[in-house]
Amino acid sequence: MWKQGEDILHAAFGESRFPVHPDLSKALNNGISNRSYLSSLGTKRLRAKIAHYYTKKLNKKISYDQVIVGIGSKSLLYSIIKAIDGDLLLPKPSWVSYSSIATMCNRGITRFDLDKDNGYKLNIESLNNAYGSAKMNGSNPSMLVLNSPNNPVGNSFCRSDIELATSWSKENSITVLSDEIYSLITFKGNSHHTPLSYYPDKTIIFSGLSKHLSLGGWRLGVAILPRNSFGKQLISKFESIAGSIWSCVPAPFQVVGETAFSDNKSIEDYINVCANIHRIRTHFIYDHFQDIGIDCPRPAGGFYIYASFKKWSDRLSKKGIISCTSLSEYLLDKYKIATLPGSVFGDDPENLCLRISSSYLDMETDEAAQKILDNYNDGADEKSFINDHHPRLKLFLSKMTDFLNTVNK
Ligand SMILES: Cc1ncc(COP(=O)(O)O)c(C=O)c1O
Repeated sequence: MWKQGEDILHAAFGESRFPVHPDLSKALNNGISNRSYLSSLGTKRLRAKIAHYYTKKLNKKISYDQVIVGIGSKSLLYSIIKAIDGDLLLPKPSWVSYSSIATMCNRGITRFDLDKDNGYKLNIESLNNAYGSAKMNGSNPSMLVLNSPNNPVGNSFCRSDIELATSWSKENSITVLSDEIYSLITFKGNSHHTPLSYYPDKTIIFSGLSKHLSLGGWRLGVAILPRNSFGKQLISKFESIAGSIWSCVPAPFQVVGETAFSDNKSIEDYINVCANIHRIRTHFIYDHFQDIGIDCPRPAGGFYIYASFKKWSDRLSKKGIISCTSLSEYLLDKYKIATLPGSVFGDDPENLCLRISSSYLDMETDEAAQKILDNYNDGADEKSFINDHHPRLKLFLSKMTDFLNTVNK
């Protein structure tokens, strides 16, 4: 619809839109003549930089031989899921690709509910019940996916929930696949907690450059594996999958990775600036949603709001809106607002949830994205930053208010 010239308010894609940091453009130019095939695991220099970087960020000693790189974290998730026998335990809701990757790897999926009445916290009872019924039904759950900060919910799991989940995983000999791709977009006032701190023997961390440096299209993903025979086995299986399919991450982008993970002050400051802008924009939507009565957990990182319209289900059904998909289609059709329905994240359609992404509005083009960054760097206070430079974000909110007014009438 956008390409056909319609003015769509795009709250659907989860893509961070900030410009490429100049040191990373320079690194790509410097790396451009590197044209040889490289190790499928990544160059030793890059793996050592990543190990050093995350040792500092996660406060946990990581050595270069625990680190591998892939074509985005998706290729790493695919290879690791393929390399581990057994099925997956997936939170409901969770990011779309876990289930499609599991299906491609012929792995079964068992979903367990996050506690939606309590900010979508981890709920060990629901995890344990789902695990029990999966075993009774002949499935063999061996992997638990945790994702914090979370897509689609926007929350972060607290330390005690991570501790409980890891001790439960240890008891049941479950491997934790910890997707931490949004960890460097943890909002001020919140903390990131990793299962690695509590369960190093069987935690695998996934990350990459896509979100905190807005480099989704540069496809550099990272995985950190346990430093034991289990980790070594997985790395060797990864090596044969990567070696057979894509050989290596393109050589120039490995040079970019060395700079991105070098603890360069200007890049670290930039990551913090981008995270702060995401926070201001995401919380502005959240605050407005609170004012108009839309239920959603307060975002703690990333750029998502997970909004429930369930309390209006009777009124919405009179408009023919009986599922999250019909709600999302109605908003697109009548208000030119694009969102994603909760059902694509495995949620029940009758929960009437939508994932709203704050990352595109007023940053639709590269020029607009640069302007938002410039305006922020001009030092205006948060209120004027939103009021003076976010006409489309405000239009989106006023249309959502109009929509709810027609529902409440
Ligand atoms: C939770 C989560 N994990 C992983 C990814 C994909 O990451 P990559 O670009 O590294 O493949 C996304 C992108 O949307 C995501 O939301």
